[in-house]
Amino acid sequence: GGVASSGAQPGQAVASTAAAQPKLTILYGSQTGNSKSVAQTYKTAASEQGFDANVISMADYKPRQLKNETHLVVIVSTHGEGDAPDDAIELHEFLASKKAPKVPNLKYAVVGLGDTSYEFFCQTGKDFDTRLCALGATALVERLDCDVDYDEAIANWAVALNNKLKDELKPVETTQVANLTPAANAVAESLYNKKNPFAATLSESLKITGRNSVKDIRHIEISLEDSGIQYRPGDALGVWFSNDEALAGRIMTATDTKADDQVTIADANYSLLDALVNKLELTLSYPGFVKAYLAATNDKELASLMEDKTALREFLSVSQIVDIVEKYPAKVSAQALVDAMRPITPRLYSIASSQAEVEDEVHLTVAHVEYEANGFTHQGGASGFLSTRLEEGQNVNVYVENNDNFRLPSDPNTPVIMIGPGTGIAPFRAFLQERDATEAEGKNWLFFGNPNFTQDFLYQTEWQGYLKSGLLSKISLAFSRDQAEKIYVQDRLRENGKEVFEWLEQGAHFYICGDALRMAKDVESALLELVSVHGNKSETEAKEYVTNLRKSKRYQKDVY
Ligand code: 2AM
Repeated sequence: GGVASSGAQPGQAVASTAAAQPKLTILYGSQTGNSKSVAQTYKTAASEQGFDANVISMADYKPRQLKNETHLVVIVSTHGEGDAPDDAIELHEFLASKKAPKVPNLKYAVVGLGDTSYEFFCQTGKDFDTRLCALGATALVERLDCDVDYDEAIANWAVALNNKLKDELKPVETTQVANLTPAANAVAESLYNKKNPFAATLSESLKITGRNSVKDIRHIEISLEDSGIQYRPGDALGVWFSNDEALAGRIMTATDTKADDQVTIADANYSLLDALVNKLELTLSYPGFVKAYLAATNDKELASLMEDKTALREFLSVSQIVDIVEKYPAKVSAQALVDAMRPITPRLYSIASSQAEVEDEVHLTVAHVEYEANGFTHQGGASGFLSTRLEEGQNVNVYVENNDNFRLPSDPNTPVIMIGPGTGIAPFRAFLQERDATEAEGKNWLFFGNPNFTQDFLYQTEWQGYLKSGLLSKISLAFSRDQAEKIYVQDRLRENGKEVFEWLEQGAHFYICGDALRMAKDVESALLELVSVHGNKSETEAKEYVTNLRKSKRYQKDVY
């Protein structure tokens, strides 16, 4: 990127009014990087048409700029209960506020990224669409609401949008287009990606919670030898996996289908067994499957479950495909079964190592998802694969997903505060390895929590080593179940409020990784509270302080 767009054609004066030259701005609001990657994909597609597009994170965008836009593409994801990602919060609120300008000359397109298994599917995308429309802007194409597997939908949407834009935007000169091609390093990065992963090798898999732990957490080491893959602390590893064959077998039994029935998925042919094991999502459940399965079976009981939204959500929350077909067994065609299912998608894990330390390895901290429901033990798809099915020496397809929203400070002297309970510890192991290997001088403070000290103190000896060497200035531990009342990382944060605030005043960066639903929210409340108490600020001032931290990229989250 980095190509400035003046909006003026060569030889023309830059007009001073907003109505001057049309220009294309692509705004993205990303939490995990998906919106960013879609924005970049679309920029490439737009550049191929000769459109000069600017890609900007909503975090870096001044809302007041909006009135100068002529053609705007918004790509934004949704989190939790229909929340906007951090980067999008300010613009999202601005558009609904009295400050928002009327934009009758603006033409726009919105892509929402989400997950149909959530109630507030693509809510933030919907909000942007509604608000832009209310301000007088005109949609170029209909809003696209994407489910988790969005590549094809995005490709089709990009073609439709480019067709519309042909009448609106003049292609830039060829020489300028040449300048828009990605820099050499971006090409190197994209050698392996989601669609073209690297066949890496599992070199080690170790259970790092104790025998009596309530959790099963694995330390996984994967060899990237000969791939040339480079990653940075804060990045995630995309992991493709295959499903448990036994699960596929049960699904076939319940639907009276056979392993060697032939099926077609996206114009390619597979045996049903191959499709179930390698191509389809078996370990999630989603309303789309229930709908399609109902259409194929006409099961009366299932139809009545569909009517009862609360019961349906409850059932789906603990069910996988196998639970649905076993509870409502019916003879269906292999093709109908396959058509009802979602294509398998890779899982993203925050990387737990730094290449400055481990070179051509990549480490992960994986919670092995395992739970009892409907009378049997369920496993997570990717975590079951990594923890129990993949053996040392075998191949696993991986790629790196960059996450520029979760980075160490560029200044090695800047202090960092890291809040990483449970598997949220992963990226901080990467941060500390990096700071150790590069002899960064900044202070490091780690907050870690888990149920029990004796069972769940992940990477304990490593932290002890770092405390001894001085790399780690401080560690604050919250073992929630070692005493009568629960103690969490946010409690430790409050207890240390004065010192945490001093670190922030010294310029510290503040990071949270782990559970988004409760932990990250509770930690944020504790942060607001300590800023207010120790900074002598009103609630509004404390909010402003934290907003400024966020805007200056000193408050970053990697939550899931
Ligand atoms: P618990 O399961 O004993 O309640 C990592 O998963 C740690 O996060 C566990 O010790 C877990 O405690 C704790 N945890 C659960 N809910 C939390 C919350 N709202 N805030 C912070 N930590 C939480």
